[in-house]
Amino acid sequence: MVKNQLWGARFSKKMDPALFKMSQSTAFDWRLAPYDLLQSLAHTEGLLNQKIINKQQAQKLKQTLEAMLTDFYKGKLVPKLEDEDVHGALERILIERAPKVGGWIRSGRSRNDQVSCDLRMYLRDEVRALSSLLVDLVEVLTIKGEAHLTDPMPGYTHTQRAQPVTLGHYFFSHAHSLLRDLDRIVDWDKRVNVSPLGAGAIAGSGVVKNTKLTASLLGFDDYSLNSIDAVSERDFVAEILFIMSLIGIHLAKISEEIILFTSREFAFARLDDAWATGSSMMPQKKNADGAELTRGKSGRLIGNLTSLLTMLKGLPFAYNRDLQEDKEPVFDSIDTLFLTIPVTIGMIRTLEFDLTKMKNEADKGYALATEIADYLTLNGIDFKTAHEVAGACVKLAEKQQKELVELASSDLVKIHPLLEESIKPLLTTTGSINNRNSASGTSATSLSLQLKDLKKKRIKFRVWANEVIYRKLHDA
Ligand code: ARG
Repeated sequence: MVKNQLWGARFSKKMDPALFKMSQSTAFDWRLAPYDLLQSLAHTEGLLNQKIINKQQAQKLKQTLEAMLTDFYKGKLVPKLEDEDVHGALERILIERAPKVGGWIRSGRSRNDQVSCDLRMYLRDEVRALSSLLVDLVEVLTIKGEAHLTDPMPGYTHTQRAQPVTLGHYFFSHAHSLLRDLDRIVDWDKRVNVSPLGAGAIAGSGVVKNTKLTASLLGFDDYSLNSIDAVSERDFVAEILFIMSLIGIHLAKISEEIILFTSREFAFARLDDAWATGSSMMPQKKNADGAELTRGKSGRLIGNLTSLLTMLKGLPFAYNRDLQEDKEPVFDSIDTLFLTIPVTIGMIRTLEFDLTKMKNEADKGYALATEIADYLTLNGIDFKTAHEVAGACVKLAEKQQKELVELASSDLVKIHPLLEESIKPLLTTTGSINNRNSASGTSATSLSLQLKDLKKKRIKFRVWANEVIYRKLHDA
């Protein structure tokens, strides 16, 4: 049997180095170490509670595990090249430091329930930290939106001028989508908030039966009711990978708009120097690389989700080693968002707008034509007819190279008798914006109500994200 390995008594040959290299996960699963140690501390409590170990043994185990945790944070706890995975490495170190009692830690536990538990703990913790960053982003969007609540800008559909909106309305739109992502996260947490301990390798444990105790010690509100499900399911990983992909897509959308708005063609906004990059050849260049990388990195978030789903598809009965392939994608997605969210926050926080240009452009391209149609509709004309009348106005304005508001009253009445002088105030950007006062609309009254709701939701998610489950880790 190979020394320091968790198995091998029935083998007469050492594992081939090529297989070992493939099997080894220590290089990437070491980040689970603090969670594995906390789990072992709770497990020790469980073993003591069931009188499987005595008080002295439990105390020695706990002291050693605590010291390992402290050393981990000092960078003094490191795996060896021959450690197969984080669980094996930690057990080796525990036995090295506490030779008489270390061997008890595996009682009633398999790496199968252990790894699922570690991953749940790690994700619950990291996702809260990510959520806190997301709330920061929502806050920046809300603050920017409030500052520019009534500043007009062109609204686009199909990247063509559509109708004037305000910059506040625009910023709030992104805050809404990110708040939904936060809502998804909180909902996901309900399902991942279940301890798999007590499942053992597949059939449950004949040794540790007080699953309620270990679950509550590890901050789980519930424990698994089916050991086969507990060790084999990774739906909680798939779900969070989907949510992280969606966050990536939302960030990519914001990034795309930053790239467009800061281009010479739009020239609506300027990136702060600290959040832009230059060109090695063209001295004049100021590039939005942060936005481009954020947009580009959304691809790997989707890739990670696809990779996990494909790995899971068709896996038979309970634990299969394929499941080890769940870690790198989900770690990568977490790391990616820890990179992209702060950059998005920085870019938005420091973005400066050319408000005059945006205002001047807001009504160009006959963006107020819908006002004519709506006006007629409110005066008893069906929308089909009203749409045609407004179209005729655009046609005439185009022919005369005028804005709609510049059309002569005599010409307007000729197109339709109801098009009187009273329509003129609506044919201005401010008139149009004030007129769009449905609850979700771009008018100042609508936006003030939206702002209240955004703030309320933001506070709710801030409280959730700040909840610390593993105080022992965070106070370390
Ligand atoms: N490194 C493994 C994983 O990540 C741990 C579980 C190993 N279980 C086993 N039966 N070989 O899934």
